[in-house]
Amino acid sequence: MNNPVRLDLENGIAVVTIDNPPVNALSHAVRAGLLRMIDTAEAGGAQAIVLIGAGRDFIAGADISEFGSPPKEPYLPDLCRRIEKSSCPVIAVLHGATLGGGLEVALSAHYRVATQTARIGLPEVLLGIIPGAGGTQRLPRLTGAEAALDLITTGRHVTAKTALELGIVDHLANAPPKEAGLAFAENIKGQGQRPTSDLPQPDAADFDAWYSRMEQVHRGQSAPKTAVRAIEAASSLPFEEGLLRERDLFLTLMDSPQRAGLIHAFFAERAVSKLPELKETNPRDIHTIGILGGGTMGAGIAAACLLKSLPVTLVDRTRAAADAARERIAQSIQGAVKRGKLEDAAPVMDQLVTTAEDLDLADADLIIEAVFEDMETKHEVFARLDAICKPGAILATNTSYLDINVIAARTSRPEDVIGLHFFSPAHIMKLLEIVVADKTAPDVIATGFSFAKRLGKTAVRAGVCDGFIGNRILSRYRMAMDNLVLDGASPYQIDNALTEFGMAMGPFAVADLAGLDIAWAARKRKAASRTPYERIPTFADRLCEMGRFGRKTGQGFYLYSEKAPQGIPDPEVEAIIAEERAKADIIPRDFRDDEIVLRFMLAIVNEAAYILDDGIARRPLDIDVTLVYGYGFPRWRGGPMHWADQAGLGRLLDSLHTLQDEDPHFWAIAPLLSRLAQSDQSFADLNKGMSR
Ligand code: CAA
Repeated sequence: MNNPVRLDLENGIAVVTIDNPPVNALSHAVRAGLLRMIDTAEAGGAQAIVLIGAGRDFIAGADISEFGSPPKEPYLPDLCRRIEKSSCPVIAVLHGATLGGGLEVALSAHYRVATQTARIGLPEVLLGIIPGAGGTQRLPRLTGAEAALDLITTGRHVTAKTALELGIVDHLANAPPKEAGLAFAENIKGQGQRPTSDLPQPDAADFDAWYSRMEQVHRGQSAPKTAVRAIEAASSLPFEEGLLRERDLFLTLMDSPQRAGLIHAFFAERAVSKLPELKETNPRDIHTIGILGGGTMGAGIAAACLLKSLPVTLVDRTRAAADAARERIAQSIQGAVKRGKLEDAAPVMDQLVTTAEDLDLADADLIIEAVFEDMETKHEVFARLDAICKPGAILATNTSYLDINVIAARTSRPEDVIGLHFFSPAHIMKLLEIVVADKTAPDVIATGFSFAKRLGKTAVRAGVCDGFIGNRILSRYRMAMDNLVLDGASPYQIDNALTEFGMAMGPFAVADLAGLDIAWAARKRKAASRTPYERIPTFADRLCEMGRFGRKTGQGFYLYSEKAPQGIPDPEVEAIIAEERAKADIIPRDFRDDEIVLRFMLAIVNEAAYILDDGIARRPLDIDVTLVYGYGFPRWRGGPMHWADQAGLGRLLDSLHTLQDEDPHFWAIAPLLSRLAQSDQSFADLNKGMSR
């Protein structure tokens, strides 16, 4: 757009409108335009300047797509200084998204009016940076240091009402932005400018305690703790020096890999649902949901739907089982009330029917099967759904690994069959894998994505294979970590190294949580198809034989008690592992933490490259989002494929060659990885042009 900022004179008041769709981000052209319009308004003798955004939002912040390119003048801090020093009183009207640099512009104005729609915040830490245009210096002058520490270190948004209570805005208006600004300008006539930087310095807070808390809560992340130091400068340094300190800290973070990782995550999360093949496809209408199976998953999916006002009919085999499912769902809904997500559980529960009569699913628009993971059972269920469900209904399976093509073939309408793979607890976890079988119709895929959006979930398209994207990768890195234990590392060292790397939990703690018996059953099931080269983690079998199934039995890799609900290491487990190594004639060796992390990541990246080559994931970014949202991969590392690009594919390939010498079967290198490394390409290159 040529001119994203315009000026209209209304009775001597200059109304400056930022018009840069979709969210009025502060691109270079907007910054330059704003500067020009301030000059023009002053030169024209305007009595006041009113800043508004065209459309829904005031300004959603810096233009994130410009990050990583050399910055161009005018810089945002200079624009903010210019606004603050304007010879005309400047009024910012906060409406819609008023975030990051957008709020910094508003804080530099002399007065702030907010409309009811405003969502106000400094979310920079969520992008790996801190406010860099005076936000950490001006906000605490208005709110005090404690409130500023809270807002800036969490990046949370507040409503107009809260912003008024905190002192961020001067007035709440019940009018459209332009009218609100003009009316306010009328009221402050003759009152002149009121620069925020002239306000007294905020009182000191316990900055060291805040810093330590940030180190604990945001383990491994730089931005939240750096924000504390910047806000500290507001209370310890004169304004101009505080600005310089903020700028220094900001620029260091701007150059950091964490900033690059978080920006990648921001765009990847938005790109996952943009599939070129669905550009022209409309989703089917979904008004009612049927769920078959009221166990943990079925009940969780029901709660997820109910919490988004979708009526649910849930069927289980007996009346007693249906009642038990109702109880489970009620608990989840109550949990939402306790967490402040919902005011009253009763109207939500009124939208739920639980029954033992599967004919009650006949009118549902989307039926999600969440019964026992067994192909025979699924066959029976889908043949029955085919017989009773109305034409055009979508028949979805929540299977985690079974072949959906085989399931679909049991129906007369394979085009209506799709996989909707939820993660437990389904009403909380953000990820939904949308598993597309060979014959799934495009409008059924589109419905999967619109349904996910309705549930507030992030959906990723996956193809059919054992484990789809996420569990296929999980099973590979679990194997790599089991092999490491066989070779000498302890499960506790591995969990510790990986949580230090940023994983939400280590793989052995996760195994305890999921139940060791589940993987044991899978190992037994797959025993017949095992190749002679495969190494078997006999230590895990031994634990299961002893009835140590993880958290649910109080013992697994860890020991659990009331005093130690998160589990503590158990020397008995280490003794069992040592025995199993001795039986297999393995002489244990030491591994450094960085070697553990490298093997973990190589197992992920190599398997991910196979998954891409197989077409199970279409784009590397789909894998990044899957691992971040479903498997506790640190968002600030952008995802495993982004991590691999940063690490350098050539270097990773060299490491894989070394491991291949050790174990040629397990570490067989994915051809795609070799191709990319040899042609000097990255996974990011594969993402390009793959989103509509
Ligand atoms: N820069 C560039 N593009 C942005 C953007 C930004 N700050 N914010 C949003 N967009 C784009 C999105 O990528 C998306 O584009 P596509 O349609 O092409 O995918 C489009 O705007 C709409 O965004 P959403 O899909 O997210 O729409 P929404 O209505 O759900 O949410 C929003 C709107 C609340 C503004 C949300 O997009 C958001 O939180 N944006 C980020 C805001 C932010 O972090 N601002 C601070 C930036 S850092 C800063 O400002 C400090 C500094 O000066 C350096």
